[in-house]
Amino acid sequence: VQKLLVLGIESSCDETGVALVECEAATGSPEVPRLLAHALYSQIEMHQAFGGVVPELASRDHIRRVLPLTQEVLTAAACTLQDIDVVAYTRGPGLAGALLVGAGVACALGAALARPVLGVHHLEGHLLSPFLSADPPQFPFVALLVSGGHTQLMRVDGVGRYALLGESIDDAAGEAFDKSAKLMGLAYPGGPLLARMAEAGNPKAYALPRPLLHSGNLDFSFAGLKTAVLVQSQKMLAADGVAHFEALPRSQQCDLAASTQAAIVDVLVKKSMTALKETGLNRLVVAGGVGANRHLRSELNAASAKRNIRVHYPELHLCTDNGAMIALAAGMRLQSGQQQASMAYAFDVKPR
Ligand code: KG4
Ligand code: ZN
Repeated sequence: VQKLLVLGIESSCDETGVALVECEAATGSPEVPRLLAHALYSQIEMHQAFGGVVPELASRDHIRRVLPLTQEVLTAAACTLQDIDVVAYTRGPGLAGALLVGAGVACALGAALARPVLGVHHLEGHLLSPFLSADPPQFPFVALLVSGGHTQLMRVDGVGRYALLGESIDDAAGEAFDKSAKLMGLAYPGGPLLARMAEAGNPKAYALPRPLLHSGNLDFSFAGLKTAVLVQSQKMLAADGVAHFEALPRSQQCDLAASTQAAIVDVLVKKSMTALKETGLNRLVVAGGVGANRHLRSELNAASAKRNIRVHYPELHLCTDNGAMIALAAGMRLQSGQQQASMAYAFDVKPR
């Protein structure tokens, strides 16, 4: 069987990711493309000093990293540039300048090698990333996409066949984690740090709102949570007579972290179960950075076990942004016959 070697480049935000997958050249194959190599450089440390991602610095750093990472995956897979059949890149959403680096490099490689290029939707990459796990899902399924920029529930019937069931009307789940963490004096991105503190805390210590829990639809709202966390932390500071969150007893800090995490996870789990019930499907796929959260995973597993639902997650290191999911999504799209790579080298990006 003839194979295609797909190079994937991710540069939508603060991680540069490059990967190589091998897919079937013939369309219609149900085979999942095989990941040959992937490499990642995270800029998080550089942005930490600023408390968040600085777009201009992100773009410049992608430029520095993308070619060395490309060389790294080629070496790891024992391939050369000439072996590449298709170059895929993240077309959006993301930071415009950062996206342009990936698009520019992909199109330059495509033009130099006379190979077609394919722009990939970043969220489709996240959505399909569980197919790279040892236990890949089968269509159809409900997807819970929880990243730093998006919170969505989707019905997925196949590659490219996605129906939005509900989404956040304001902040994303990852944003709720990060903004609450910032109030607690944690470094950017605070989600994983807040999660670690939460493991030592009591999730029932403080009553925080579960917005839209009983809204009757599958939409989310997390903007009110950070205000509630702020109000609660101010109360705690006043009661203890201290000026900074870090000056509170460690147990109180952990209790607020646990209560915050529980509020976010509660809503995500309940709405996911409602989506499964409404669609009549019994498979759930979780993707995006917040999918790495251990409390979310254990609560989803517990709720699903009761209902005979199978839950699929990406491997932990592929939950956050990476090139593997972009190469994979491109490979799955090409194999499905739904999209063709182009030799026009238009390097168009779609920030929103
Ligand atoms: O998918 P991702 O890497 O980037 C976007 O496309 O947005 O997601 C990053 C988000 C951040 O908000 C980060 O705080 C959150 O995922 N995150 C977590 C955990 N790991 C990453 N949130 C809670 N618990 C975690 N363990
Ligand atoms: Zn992402």
